[in-house]
Amino acid sequence: MREITSENIRILVNEQPAGWRSDRMLTQDAARDVLRFHRSLPGYGRTELVPLSAAAGKYGVKGIFVKDESSRFGLKAFKGLGGSYAVFRTLCELFGLDPRKSTFGDLQTSEIRGRCKDIEFATATDGNHGKGVAWAAKLFGCRSHVFMPKGSAEARRKAIEDAGASEAVVTEFNYDGTVDHARRLAEENGWTLLQDTSWEGYEKAPGWIIEGYLTLAAEACEQLGVEAPTHVFLQAGVGAMAGGVAGYLLNRYSDDPPAVTIVEPADVACVYLSAKNGRISTTGGDAATIMAGLNCETPCGVVWPILRDGVSFYCACGDCITEQGMRAYAHPHGGDPAIVSGESGAVTYGLLLRILQDESLRKLWGMNGDSVVLLINTEGATDPEGYDRVVEG
Ligand SMILES: Cc1ncc(COP(=O)(O)O)c(C=O)c1O
Repeated sequence: MREITSENIRILVNEQPAGWRSDRMLTQDAARDVLRFHRSLPGYGRTELVPLSAAAGKYGVKGIFVKDESSRFGLKAFKGLGGSYAVFRTLCELFGLDPRKSTFGDLQTSEIRGRCKDIEFATATDGNHGKGVAWAAKLFGCRSHVFMPKGSAEARRKAIEDAGASEAVVTEFNYDGTVDHARRLAEENGWTLLQDTSWEGYEKAPGWIIEGYLTLAAEACEQLGVEAPTHVFLQAGVGAMAGGVAGYLLNRYSDDPPAVTIVEPADVACVYLSAKNGRISTTGGDAATIMAGLNCETPCGVVWPILRDGVSFYCACGDCITEQGMRAYAHPHGGDPAIVSGESGAVTYGLLLRILQDESLRKLWGMNGDSVVLLINTEGATDPEGYDRVVEG
C-alpha cells in the first residue's frame, strides 16, 4: 500500500489487489431474484444511466456513465432498494414464503396484512437508509422506529417521518453510538433491527440489505450493454453499497475486472483506515462533513473481504471535492444533461474531474481514450437548503 496526498485528497493505492470473486455471493443469479422482487413493488421504475458524453470527450476518455438513483421509488436516494428487500426477506421468513418465488403481491393477503400491523422494525441511519426502511415498512403495513446521529438535518428527519416512520428521532450520539442505541431499544421492545452494518452474530439483515443494492448494479450493467466499465467509483459510509456493487461487478466482469475506487469524507474514512491497517478499524470521534450519508465510523464486516481484496484505490476527500461534483453535475459541460446530486452523491464525480485534470493522477488511475467510467449518483437534493447553498450559493 502506498499513500499519496494531492490537494484536499488522500489516496491509498493498493498496488496489487488480491482480487475477489465468488460463485455464492452477489452473483448474477442473486441479482435476478432481487430485481424480480423490486419489479413487483408499487412505484418501481428502472433509474436512468446518464451518459456524460461531452465531459468524456473533453477529458479524453471513452465514456462517463452515471447511474442516477435520485429518483428511485420517489425517495431521492438508492437506499429504498436495501430497506425494502430486507423487510421482504424478514416477512418471507416469518410467514414461511420462498423469497425466490414470492413477490410483493404474495404478502398482500388479508391474513398477512393483518399480522403485519403488529410487526415493528428499528434502524439507525444518517438519513437515506432510515427513509428506505420507513417507506418499505409502511408499504407492507408494518411500523418502524428510526434513530439518527446528533446534528442530523431536520429536513432529513422530517423526510423519514413523511415516508411513514412511526417515529424518527435525532439522538445525542454519533453514528456508531446511534446504532448501539437502536440495537438496545430493539432488544428491549421486541422490534426487528434492520441495520446496514454488521457485527458478530448479526449478519443476516445486513446481507439482505447489501443484496438489495444488486438491483442498481444489475440495471446499470444491462444499460451499459457491451460497454464494460474499466473504472468504477463508489462512495462509502459503512461500505455496504460499495461492497455490494463492487462484488457484483467483480463477479460479472471477472475476466477483465474494473478498477474499483472507494471514496469517503476526509475525517471519517473508515474503509481507507481499515485498508491501511489491514483490519476493520474505527475512526471514532464526532467528525463533521457535509457528506452526511457517508459519515460512518466503522465498515460493514459482511463486505470487508471485498473492500480489502477487490479495491485498487481508497480516497479520503475534503468537502470541497463533493461541492465541485455537485456544481459540475448541476451545470454540465457542452450538451450533457444536468443531474441533481446531493452531498453524498457527487463526491465521486468531483474526484473523477480532479483525476482527469491532473496528468499524474490520470496516469496513476490508468485513464485513457479506452476508459469507461461508471459512477453512481446515490442521492438527489435530500437536504434542499444545503443543496441550494452549495450549487447556487
Ligand atoms: C446518499 C448516500 N450515498 C452513499 C451512502 C453510503 O452507503 P453505505 O453506508 O452502504 O456505504 C449512503 C449511506 O447512507 C447515502 O445515504
